[in-house]
Amino acid sequence: MRSILILELFVQYLRLVEGITHYTTVTACNTAGLCTSVTSDGIQIDTSPPVRGKVQDGTDSVDIHYQASNNSIGAKWFGFFDPQSGISNYTWWAGTSIGSDNILNATMLHQNELAVIPDLFGHTGHILPLRQRIYITVMACNRAETFLK
Ligand SMILES: *[C@@H]1O[C@H](CO)[C@@H](O)[C@H](O)[C@H]1NC(C)=O
Ligand SMILES: *[C@@H]1O[C@H](CO)[C@@H](O)[C@H](O)[C@H]1NC(C)=O
Ligand SMILES: *[C@@H]1O[C@H](CO)[C@@H](O)[C@H](O)[C@H]1NC(C)=O
Repeated sequence: MRSILILELFVQYLRLVEGITHYTTVTACNTAGLCTSVTSDGIQIDTSPPVRGKVQDGTDSVDIHYQASNNSIGAKWFGFFDPQSGISNYTWWAGTSIGSDNILNATMLHQNELAVIPDLFGHTGHILPLRQRIYITVMACNRAETFLK
């Protein structure tokens, strides 16, 4: 007897529960009816983005509103976390309006919670604009690839 072997299966519309590990078991049987089962190491469902943290302008211990340098930019953040899958990485950028990136393009950092560019001109070819508010945005990405800005 010939049978068709399926080596891949995609199942939709399952109602998997967040925070619980789900295992997949595959059973292979030979034509004599002897079977072996193997179970995966499991996946966890994480549909929610990380929990929002706080972002501080500058790398001092407190948030700054003014700085003298026209060539350095930095930020610190804390309190982002993801109870299901954990934070995978952060991306930061800066601009002259909320969420914009006209000062600094998105730059990925791994697990760092501090970012600084001491020589912005060397990095981007321009300095910081004078007497303008500059907004820094941090995006936290969890291991399930949902993110929060
Ligand atoms: C930027 O800062 C440097 C060093 O303080 C200064 O020499 C330069 O004139 C400043 N540039 C502008 C456009 O203000
Ligand atoms: C961001 O990247 C784009 C495309 O590479 C570039 O045109 C733009 O000048 C960059 N912006 C900054 C602020 O460096
Ligand atoms: C950053 O995290 C996202 C989400 O998990 C992932 O897709 C991406 O590959 C990560 N980037 C790096 C360089 O680790």
